[in-house]
Amino acid sequence: MRLTVAPTPTSRFRRLRASPALRALAQENTLSVQDLIWPVFVRDGVGLRQPIASMPGVDRLSVDLVVKAAEEAASLGIPALCLFPYTDPAKKTEDCAEAWNPDNLANRAIRAIKDAVPEIAVMTDVALDPYNALGHDGLVRDGIILNDETIEALVKMSLAQAEAGADILGPSDMMDGRIGAMRSALEAAGHKDVTIMSYAAKYASAFYGPFRDAVGASGALKGDKKTYQMNPANSLEALRLIERDLTEGADMVMVKPGMAYLDIIHRVKATFGAPTYAYQVSGEYAMIQAAAQNGWIDGDRVMLESLMAFRRAGCDGVLTYFAPQAARAIRAGQV
Ligand code: PBG
Repeated sequence: MRLTVAPTPTSRFRRLRASPALRALAQENTLSVQDLIWPVFVRDGVGLRQPIASMPGVDRLSVDLVVKAAEEAASLGIPALCLFPYTDPAKKTEDCAEAWNPDNLANRAIRAIKDAVPEIAVMTDVALDPYNALGHDGLVRDGIILNDETIEALVKMSLAQAEAGADILGPSDMMDGRIGAMRSALEAAGHKDVTIMSYAAKYASAFYGPFRDAVGASGALKGDKKTYQMNPANSLEALRLIERDLTEGADMVMVKPGMAYLDIIHRVKATFGAPTYAYQVSGEYAMIQAAAQNGWIDGDRVMLESLMAFRRAGCDGVLTYFAPQAARAIRAGQV
């Protein structure tokens, strides 16, 4: 694209900034409630809402309250919820069998939401860490994270989630080849319309800290996830991973974390044009909330500016813990 700029005073950029009306007409990108996916943490019990210290404003919810959250999302116009289970430590094993139990917490929550609020799309997490006594996203043998054995487990987990009524499967594990295996298993089982949003470019990031508290994985995890999640120094590798996952049958692709990786989002959208999403992860949320609670920044404005940045970079949507707060601000006309 050729950008033509006449010298001042022939051009004065401030003309189009002079009033709200002109600024609105000249606005290049928009943020809407339709762009939001709301990640929620599910726990056992009834009527339970348990705050997560490192994520002020986010609670673990029992299934009945997750259904209430889905109703709230629907009334705000948020199209999708993404479920993350906080699994009872007693159910965590080294074979991770709870991950594909049709009646595990996540699958019960999917059914309850689809019963009560069928119009809400339910996204899941496909990875073994909430069920793994060793805290990793894959099966571990002698300290090695096993790729192909993990894929077999992820396929079983995916089928159980599809059976429970999930609309979007979100493999966040970073094993090689899982998208193709999931896609063919879904086709074979008749789940032709279940979509896959691949966490295709997921970095080994320190921004996930509060999430690991939220799902109770912090204590279990030994070492780090660098043998399967990406090196934050790389970008061409992200493009190759996205291409690989699209080729294997991903409907949507994600870059994660978000704000520190806007350059990757931009390149992904520009290169492939596929439906592209960012995950504004727990550490990003925690930083904004902490500063806002101290009165150091205007929380609502920083939240909306950060979400607009994802849209400007090329995102079709954003997973964000701010989803209900952002939806309310958008509906109140703050953007
Ligand atoms: C794990 C998973 C993680 C997140 C989503 N799925 C953490 C990790 O990879 O350790 C992070 C989300 C966040 O930080 O908000 N499968």
